[in-house]
Amino acid sequence: MTTSIDPGMPPSAPELVDFAALGLPQPLVRTLARQGITTPFEIQRATMPDALAGRDVLGRGQTGSGKTLAFGLPLLARLADGERARSRHPRALVLVPTRELAMQVSDALFPLGRAIGVFLRTAVGGVPYDRQISALRRGVEVLVATPGRLADLIERGVCRLDDIEVTVLDEADQMADMGFLPEVTELLAKTPADAQRLLFSATLDRDVDALVRRFMTDPVTHSTAPPTAAVETMDHHLLLIPPQDKFSVVASIAAREGRTMVFARTQLGVDRLVGQLAAVGVRAGGLHGGKTQRMRTRTLAEFREGRTNVLVATDVAARGIHVDGVSLVLHVDPPKDPKDYLHRAGRTARAGETGAVATLALPKQRRGTLAMLEKAGVAPAQTRVRAGDPALAELTGAREPSGVPVRDEPEPEPRRRAGRPDGARRFPDRHRRGEPVRSGDRRHPGRSTEGRSERRSGDRRFGGRPAANTY
Ligand SMILES: Nc1ncnc2c1ncn2[C@@H]1O[C@H](COP(=O)(O)OP(=O)(O)OP(=O)(O)O)[C@@H](O)[C@H]1O
Ligand SMILES: [Mg+2]
Repeated sequence: MTTSIDPGMPPSAPELVDFAALGLPQPLVRTLARQGITTPFEIQRATMPDALAGRDVLGRGQTGSGKTLAFGLPLLARLADGERARSRHPRALVLVPTRELAMQVSDALFPLGRAIGVFLRTAVGGVPYDRQISALRRGVEVLVATPGRLADLIERGVCRLDDIEVTVLDEADQMADMGFLPEVTELLAKTPADAQRLLFSATLDRDVDALVRRFMTDPVTHSTAPPTAAVETMDHHLLLIPPQDKFSVVASIAAREGRTMVFARTQLGVDRLVGQLAAVGVRAGGLHGGKTQRMRTRTLAEFREGRTNVLVATDVAARGIHVDGVSLVLHVDPPKDPKDYLHRAGRTARAGETGAVATLALPKQRRGTLAMLEKAGVAPAQTRVRAGDPALAELTGAREPSGVPVRDEPEPEPRRRAGRPDGARRFPDRHRRGEPVRSGDRRHPGRSTEGRSERRSGDRRFGGRPAANTY
């Protein structure tokens, strides 16, 4: 929300509310200020007083509106009482659907926690157990976890949820879908009945009803947006293209300047597109649930650090992932579900920035895609384009790829304990994330629900058939 302020006048109401006025402890306020975060966003102003007062809260705010701090700050404030967690007994839990999101949430909250003596740790699949286990044994206040790995750690007897005081479900509507619900229900049932529960999502809807009924007491709902509402600072384009031009159109858009996130439906679709783009001179990273965690972490780090300008991903990267400066989201396959559209699109135009979203549709996909967009509350500009059209360049910044195949850069050798892999700059406990998956991680192949949808259906143009389940 922007409010213009006359220089001679006192600031208008929202600007008067700072984090201290919301009741946040001073060390947290100071740490936020050092990061340049001084004025709470709307969802934070709306939810923090109730969350700080210990109430159960349902929070809905658009993509990129600052929900992580909206639940993270009250959670940390609650633990700022000087008490340490008992061995194997975390005091707070943040459950998220993907490993990357767990790492991101932990990165955002770690420095804040450190300022008040609260220690955070991730517990995610795809990486060895030993460091997670030893951290739990020493005692960790906040666990940021994906449900499958947390269930494994509990089964191994190294984690108990009896001391949990606050549980957050981020992307709560996804955590309540059929893939996650049984495990999430089981985990919540292990936390004390009177513990606080916070459910957040950009698309918080009736899908969470079962969890609300069973686990929330007199919850208060704060919505700063309707369940389906596009972000105002986002431009939406539906590009109607002939089938034979699809790859050329995708390649020219991917060759644009600026950071681009490209969503495809299947794992194989992602891999094929990355290979085809490399062949025409566009370096792109591919992210999906079929890759090792080492590769997933590396690919996202390269995109974050600007070493690749294009990230091609399945919906594994659609929810919650924040990368600064993504100026265009391209759906090479229109998502079927309006919620998927909003989350994918929400990787751009975050935190008040602007951004564009382009969806490609073949003639036969036009009607279905428009119906889906209408449900998402989006009225896109429709343009018929062919490869090389000036209109395509105007709308998306598309330009002709170089045609010089991208050379494959050799993957750096996995470093030993002395070094840190890419993307592990900030916290020493990160440097093992890059190691290959051990067999123990595959004990429960059905547990990881991240990749369900991306393996669900074939992608005729880029994929052909769903990739095998590689979890
Ligand atoms: N009060 C604030 N002032 C300035 N920047 C903020 C503030 N709150 C959050 N941010 C920044 O806004 C960005 C988006 O925040 P965040 O990832 O929490 O959004 P979100 O609502 O969880 O989005 P999504 O629905 O996609 O998960 C982050 O870079 C975060 O640091
Ligand atoms: Mg989020």
